[in-house]
Amino acid sequence: MANEMGDKGIKGRLSTNRGTWTTRFGFILAAAGSAVGLGNIWKFPYITGVYGGGAFVLVYLGCVVIVGLPLMIAEFMIGRRAQENPVGAFQRLHRDGSPWQLVGWLGVASGFIILSFYSVIAGWALAYIGKSIIGFAGTAEQIQGQFIDLVGSPGKSVFWHTVFMALCIGIVIGGIQRGIERWSRILMPSLLVILLALMVYGLFYTHGGMQALNFMFKPDFSKLSAEAVLSALGHAFFTLSLGMGAMITYGSYMRREANLVRDAVTISVLDTLIALLAGVAIFSLVFHFGLEPDKGPGLIFMTLPVLFAQTGPIVSVPFFVLLTFAAITSGISLLEVVVS
Ligand code: PFF
Repeated sequence: MANEMGDKGIKGRLSTNRGTWTTRFGFILAAAGSAVGLGNIWKFPYITGVYGGGAFVLVYLGCVVIVGLPLMIAEFMIGRRAQENPVGAFQRLHRDGSPWQLVGWLGVASGFIILSFYSVIAGWALAYIGKSIIGFAGTAEQIQGQFIDLVGSPGKSVFWHTVFMALCIGIVIGGIQRGIERWSRILMPSLLVILLALMVYGLFYTHGGMQALNFMFKPDFSKLSAEAVLSALGHAFFTLSLGMGAMITYGSYMRREANLVRDAVTISVLDTLIALLAGVAIFSLVFHFGLEPDKGPGLIFMTLPVLFAQTGPIVSVPFFVLLTFAAITSGISLLEVVVS
């Protein structure tokens, strides 16, 4: 409502040749695709493991509601109102010469810098689809050695990074509707189906399900440190794709009549649910094999493959496909910030 009233002043200056999402559902899938990524499936489970489980999860949920959600609404509002990329949006919505423009540039710079490491990790996920199809075998040292070999080899890392970037570029070149929206409509539902299957497997076909639920949802505040709280706050920004212009950019392709508060709530709930489901799926396996959850960043690429050697490709292939799909829908949003 406020938007409709407030838009009158700038309406005449809006550029008219910008893409828009075809439907509200398409927008939600694309924005949720940006939010759901390596942050949900790689980072959230490993930091939850490192910071002791339940209490950390609770603080993280608080950060999403209190800080993340309002910021997401704000970014959508800025984008939708200005109908511009992040730099143009801050230029348009402030008086001439205002230093606020710098915030837009900072967003573009952060998006670029994040994509430069994000694409390397996403490349590892791609490489691990291949390794899963072949199957993990040998001793734990040998299986973990495969990761050390991949990370230690600039040639291999650059190769997989390039494949990942080529996929993202191929999608972004298609434009908003025929590129980003269309692929989000394919990748996001597939991701959800794979994740639900993995969670059902973890909960009902391993002996670690109950322990995983207890670990994630029974808070033990004695394990909570100031560092954990800071990490939960930082992760709320990262996982909701905030502070780097991605949601401003996606918001700029919204139609004026969209209900952005309702959409932001839907996207935040989806993102949080997917992180929690991924945590349950992963920790069920970890506890089933009697391991500790605090393995750090190597949880997915070093610890899980050792367990996958027992479960076989039927679990590992869907897992790394899931990780790759999540990374692609986020990678395209990071690229779109710079492209726009
Ligand atoms: N939200 C993504 C994730 O959780 O993996 C990462 C991300 C994407 C951060 C897009 C920032 C962004 F602009």
